[in-house]
Amino acid sequence: MQVLQNIEELKTFRESLGMQSVGLVPTMGALHKGHLSLISESIHHNTHTIVSIFVNPTQFGQNEDLSTYPRTLDRDLALCESLGVSAVFVPSVEQMYPSDDEIAILPPKMMGYVLEGFDRPTHFAGVLQVVLKLFMLARPHKAYFGKKDAQQVLIVQKMAKDLHLPLEIVMCPIVRDDDGLAFSSRNVYLSPKEREIALCIPRTITRIESAIAQGVREVRELENLAHQTLDFKSAPIHIFYAYFCDHSLAPITHIRQGESLFLLAVRVGKTRLLDNLWC
Ligand code: PAF
Repeated sequence: MQVLQNIEELKTFRESLGMQSVGLVPTMGALHKGHLSLISESIHHNTHTIVSIFVNPTQFGQNEDLSTYPRTLDRDLALCESLGVSAVFVPSVEQMYPSDDEIAILPPKMMGYVLEGFDRPTHFAGVLQVVLKLFMLARPHKAYFGKKDAQQVLIVQKMAKDLHLPLEIVMCPIVRDDDGLAFSSRNVYLSPKEREIALCIPRTITRIESAIAQGVREVRELENLAHQTLDFKSAPIHIFYAYFCDHSLAPITHIRQGESLFLLAVRVGKTRLLDNLWC
């Protein structure tokens, strides 16, 4: 496995692969089982897999956790190697952002400034900026993203469509820990007590899923169920949103199977946690 620390090395490596199929898994490191499932999926479907590890400063807001974001590079590299990754791209901030006055890529108004983008209005522009650079440099045939960050993957997919990028965005299922909590690099911030409290999140997802399986389609009823299960009056949590929408993030009043999403964002202690159901 090659560890590529600068853009020239990545370009040379990519040239050497010629026409062979390439999968890209963009990450910010602190790899967990969710990332590993994306990497395995890419390895299964492509001759070569490139993983990028870059804590992208442009997607963090001013009061967010850029400086404390977990960094576990040696462990991440060992995991990538054990899975059979061909190369890991680990650029510096200076490599990725040599200019402080760059062309801006903005998310669509209807998708980029609601939900996560409402509280973090510069977040998706930062994600698109780095993801587009990674696509141009690694020139993958397929790029792998988790469904857990539903808004992110839908916006990246829209960028790929609108800009006619010659690659496929592959969405991979949410991976959950034994207690049901979806894997996230930020789960390490939770104390044992907070983690216990956070389990109301997967409980809510499961309850909504069963209600839909039993035939409930009306969003108002499902919303009530979600709020009852989250029960913020007895648990010290803050609900940012519990929102039903279609794949363009427009609100819906009824579930249409295969076309609907339930998106949930909750703060437990100081940690913002996301979960969702593609329904
Ligand atoms: O999902 C993430 O880890 C990041 O937003 C991504 C896609 C790697 C861009 O920095």
